[in-house]
Amino acid sequence: MMISSSKMSVSPGLQSSSESPLSSSRPPTSLPLRTIPGSHGWPLLGPISDRLDYFWFQGPETFFRKRIEKYKSTVFRTNVPPSFPFFTNVNPNVVAVLDTKSFSHLFDMDLVEKRNILVGDFMPSVKFTGDVRVCAYLDTSEPQHSHLKNFAMDILKQGSRTWVSEVLASLETMWDSIESTISKSGSASYLIPLQQFVFKFLMKSLIGADPSVSQEIADSGYIMLDRWLAVQLLPTVKIGVLQPLEEIFLHSWAYPFFVVSGDYKKLCDFVKKEGKEVLRRGETEFGLSTEDSLHNLLFILGFNAFGGFSVFLPGLVGRIVSDKTGLQEKIRKEVKEKGGSTLSFDSVKEMPLVMSVVYETLRLSPPVPTQYGRARKDFQLSSHDSVYNIKKGELLCGYQPLVMRDGKIFDEPESFKPDRFTNEKGSELLNYLYWSNGPQTGSPSASNKQCAAKDYVVLTAALFVAYIFSRYDSIVGDSSSITAVEKAK
Ligand code: HEM
Repeated sequence: MMISSSKMSVSPGLQSSSESPLSSSRPPTSLPLRTIPGSHGWPLLGPISDRLDYFWFQGPETFFRKRIEKYKSTVFRTNVPPSFPFFTNVNPNVVAVLDTKSFSHLFDMDLVEKRNILVGDFMPSVKFTGDVRVCAYLDTSEPQHSHLKNFAMDILKQGSRTWVSEVLASLETMWDSIESTISKSGSASYLIPLQQFVFKFLMKSLIGADPSVSQEIADSGYIMLDRWLAVQLLPTVKIGVLQPLEEIFLHSWAYPFFVVSGDYKKLCDFVKKEGKEVLRRGETEFGLSTEDSLHNLLFILGFNAFGGFSVFLPGLVGRIVSDKTGLQEKIRKEVKEKGGSTLSFDSVKEMPLVMSVVYETLRLSPPVPTQYGRARKDFQLSSHDSVYNIKKGELLCGYQPLVMRDGKIFDEPESFKPDRFTNEKGSELLNYLYWSNGPQTGSPSASNKQCAAKDYVVLTAALFVAYIFSRYDSIVGDSSSITAVEKAK
C-alpha cells in the first residue's frame, strides 16, 4: 500500500510532520497483540550461529530479510554480533524492528534510552576517546548530553560561515587531482581524493584549522582517522575479507587502543594547537572541561562527520554514474538553470532533482545502517499490523536499509527512483526518511538523539552533486573510480 497525502492512515502515530513520530503519546491502537516471534537460541550456540549468518553465510541484509520471511513479522527476537568467544560482557540478544512504524519507537526518548549503545550492546573502549564518554554514547537523561549536543550544534553554526566556500575550494582540488590521474592513467580511483577533500573541508570549517600547516596532518590526517575508526568498529561490521579469516581475526575480539594511540595523539596535539578558538568556546559557552571539548570535537570530526561522509559520498557518486535513464543530463540542466554564478546552500535548495537524488541515496543506502534503543520501561510497540509487549531493558535493533524499503510507505521500494522526493507526495515521504536517527522533517535538539548535522549533510551532498555537474556535462565510472569526464560546454 502506498501513502498519498490524503491517505496517510497506514501508520497511526506517523501521520504528518506535526503529529511527529517522536511523540510518546501514541494513539490507542486496535491492532492485534502478538507474542514477539523468534528466539535468542541456546546460550552461546544461538549467538554464534546468528553471528556466522550475519557476517558470513548471509550478510546483514539477507540475515534480517530471511527472518522477516520466516517469522512473517518485521518484529522478532534474534542475536546480533559481536558475541562468543571474547565478548563475554556483550549481550547479543535484541528485538529487531524492521518497518517504519516499529523503527520510529527508537526516536521516542520517553520509551528508549540511548546510553552506551551507539553500535549495540558492545561499546568500544573509552580509551579511543581520551577516557571521555562522548556525546553519541550519552542518553538524553544525562545532563552532559545537552551541553555536548548544544556544543556540536554551535560548532556547525560557527562553521557555517565558511562551510560552503571550504567545500567548493576542496572540491576543486579533488576534481583537479582526479582529472590529472585520468589523463595520465585512463582511470582514477577517487576514494583517496574524496577522503582528502572531506578531511580538509571539515578540519577547516568545524575546527577552524588548516591541515596544511602540518605536513604530516595534511598528508596523513585522513589515514589516521581511517585507522582509528576501523579499529573501533571492526567487531561490528562485515568487511568482505576471505572467510573464515574475517571471523577469526576481525570479529572475535576488540583490538586495543594502543594500536592507534600514536595517531590519536598527533590528531589531539594538532587540534589543541590549531583549534584553540573552538575549544575555548566549549569551555566558556558550554561549561565543558578542556578534555571534554577536545575529545568530543575529535569524535565529531572523525567519527560522526568524516566517517559519515566517507561512506555516503562514494555511494552517491555510484548511484549517479550507474544510472541508465539520462539522470546526468537532467541534473546538469537543473544545475545550469538554478545554480547561478556561485553555488550555495540556498541555490541547491532550489534544485528539487539534486535534493531528491540525495534523499533517495540516503533511503536506499543509509550510511549508518543500524540503530539501537534500550526500553526505559515496559511498553507496547506497534508495527503496521501487530502490537508487541516490550520489557524494560530489552534492546531494540533497527536495520535501516530494510526499514527504508518499507513497501507500506514507499512505492517500488527496492528501486532507485531519482525523482521520488520531487513532488508533494515526496515531501510527505520525508517523514519516513530516517537516516539521521529521526525523520528528515524533524529537528536535532538537546532532548533527542537526531544527528546534529542533519541538514548540513543533505545540503553538502547536494552541493557536491551540483558542483560535479557545473564542472562536467557527464562523468563515467563506478562507486570507487572515474574513467572519463566530459567538461561542461
Ligand atoms: C554523512 C554524514 C553523517 C551521517 C550519515 C551521520 C549520521 C548520524 C546518525 C545516524 C546519528 C545517530 C546515531 C545513533 O544514536 O544511533 C548521528 C548522531 C550525531 N551526529 Fe551525525 N552524521 C553525519 C555527519 C555529522 C556531522 C557533519 C556532524 C557535525 C557536527 C555530526 C554530528 C553528530 C552528533 C553530535 C551526533 C550525536 C547526537 C546526539 O547524541 O544527540 N554528524 N549522526
